[in-house]
Amino acid sequence: MHKIALFYFSGTGNTWWASEELTRLLREKGAAAEAFSIEKITPGEAGILIKEASIAGFGYPIYGSDLPQPVKNFILGLPAAKNKKCFVFCTQWLWSGDGARTGAGFLRPKGFDVRWGEHFLMPLNVCVPVLPFFLFTNDRTKIDAVLGRASLRIERFAAKIVSGQPFRRGFNPVSFSLGCMQRVPYRIVYSRLQDDISVDRERCTSCGLCTRLCPSGNLAFDGKAFSTRGNCYLCLRCYNFCPVSAIKYMHRQHNLRRGEPYRGPVKDFNPGILCARGTELLTHMPGQFC
Ligand SMILES: Cc1cc2nc3c(=O)[nH]c(=O)nc-3n(C[C@H](O)[C@H](O)[C@H](O)COP(=O)(O)O)c2cc1C
Repeated sequence: MHKIALFYFSGTGNTWWASEELTRLLREKGAAAEAFSIEKITPGEAGILIKEASIAGFGYPIYGSDLPQPVKNFILGLPAAKNKKCFVFCTQWLWSGDGARTGAGFLRPKGFDVRWGEHFLMPLNVCVPVLPFFLFTNDRTKIDAVLGRASLRIERFAAKIVSGQPFRRGFNPVSFSLGCMQRVPYRIVYSRLQDDISVDRERCTSCGLCTRLCPSGNLAFDGKAFSTRGNCYLCLRCYNFCPVSAIKYMHRQHNLRRGEPYRGPVKDFNPGILCARGTELLTHMPGQFC
């Protein structure tokens, strides 16, 4: 029987959902599979689980055809994997070119034998005013339809992993070149984008949810004032889940007339389950997180 340990990062819930779905389907096919948020586990602890597993897995959202910074840090911190079989997948709204292959590029130097790679199309989590609003939807019917299609692809991926049939989407020179067209400019502007979050003090109720959810410790609140450290990972958790939409990106906040920002793939999704601080502190109430 395969023993599978899957490690994921998820900003706003899509990759968490895909990881849970994949784990469920792997179990249905007879594997012993478990998913771990990298925000709740150290690379050293993950190294022990990887050693015990027959297959390791890695999942992350695509940011500009690249991996989120915490995923890069996590992989770089892992101990050597000595040819451990592994799969890698990314969740994306539309397109990344070579999103899974980019992750493999970090895993192979660690000794991982990347046999499977896949891209899952998920709802767009970006509803900041720098993108046209019509691209983003918070309509549950449309979101459920996207999840239904993603689930079918996840099922096919699980079947390939369990049967041992190698499959690597986007591991070719054309996809690599297309991915570079987005990744290279993204990496150039990345450090500038890391300091674009701010808080609207008029709207803010000082609940502190954003500071508890932030995976990078970018947001701090000393009881009187908010400060940012310029090390945002761009995950949009604070922006999307602020109960009063007080978080600003590039000095602009979510337009509440457009409805709620993207708050996860399933109704009543609680962002606190993604991170250690959130799990302890959040009690979920529909439409309100604190
Ligand atoms: C900073 C940023 C960059 C993104 N870049 C892309 C992209 O290049 N291609 C794409 O299809 N989706 C892109 N997306 C959308 C996310 O990859 C997608 O919605 C993902 O499923 C979010 O996963 P999460 O909810 O686990 O964070 C981007 C999202 C963010 C926040």
